[in-house]
Amino acid sequence: MILRDLLELGYEKVAEFQKEKTAAKLLLAGMLDISQGDIFKRYQDEIANDKANNYLELLDLYIYDSVPIQYLVGYTYFHGHKIAVDERVLIPRPETEYLVDKIIKKFPNNLKVLEIGTGSGAIAISLAKEKNYEIDATDIDKNALDVAKTNCRINQVDINLIQSDFYENIFEKYDLIISNPPYVSEYDEIDESVLFEPEIALFSDNFGTAHLTTIISEGMNYLKPDGMIIVEHGHLHGLFLHHFVNINFPEYRTFLLKDLQGKDRFTLIKRRKLV
Ligand SMILES: C[S@@+](CC[C@H](N)C(=O)[O-])C[C@H]1O[C@@H](n2cnc3c(N)ncnc32)[C@H](O)[C@@H]1O
Repeated sequence: MILRDLLELGYEKVAEFQKEKTAAKLLLAGMLDISQGDIFKRYQDEIANDKANNYLELLDLYIYDSVPIQYLVGYTYFHGHKIAVDERVLIPRPETEYLVDKIIKKFPNNLKVLEIGTGSGAIAISLAKEKNYEIDATDIDKNALDVAKTNCRINQVDINLIQSDFYENIFEKYDLIISNPPYVSEYDEIDESVLFEPEIALFSDNFGTAHLTTIISEGMNYLKPDGMIIVEHGHLHGLFLHHFVNINFPEYRTFLLKDLQGKDRFTLIKRRKLV
């Protein structure tokens, strides 16, 4: 069978079950290790029967069991960097990629950075590769750190990976502390596909704010005088974090930033200037 016919078969299957059409293409491109944009150049390629069957079996796992395509393929791309993912880590999200893009374009070079909860390492690896930052990246979960280590090797970057519960094993001060912590509340409605991701990467107590408040309040002790903290959070957490900082740390200011959907998604915290 040629590639174009196999892709058509994939499209028919996903359409029949009202699943995302792009998933059929994403999976095929992933299996062939080519970009989605290059698929049409290979339309006439002959695909061996066992490979075609394997494709259709994996597509079934997506259709019937909602296994995310990125886990089926074993990797994703984050800000242009290939990042291996499996069920030990959260699949990096476009919102996070948007934040990293803003930092890469707008922040100065030569910062010393700490990432709390690195998971696959997507944030730290992009910043290390594109800004040449000196980066320490932590995770509480040894399994996640193993994936991050693999990704550092794939991307040939040198990041100091540290197993740590919040700041437990951190002893230095930083220009920037960045974190996309777990922020889903146990009361939130969640998509079925999210259930394949590690619980420890998703859920946080106090309506999703427990990790955020710890990272912010303890983080103040690990900032250089002009240092700042940036956290990604749920779209309803912004106002709460603003009041949390204002009440507990009046010497700091918050700046609320939106994601591509126009939702409140990131908070930047830095010390007020005294003039
Ligand atoms: C939402 S995931 C973010 C992963 C990755 N940084 C990204 O943006 O795709 C949160 C990560 O925080 C880690 N984590 C959870 N609790 C933590 C804690 N107390 N200290 C450090 N890391 C923690 C999880 O293991 C998970 O890898």
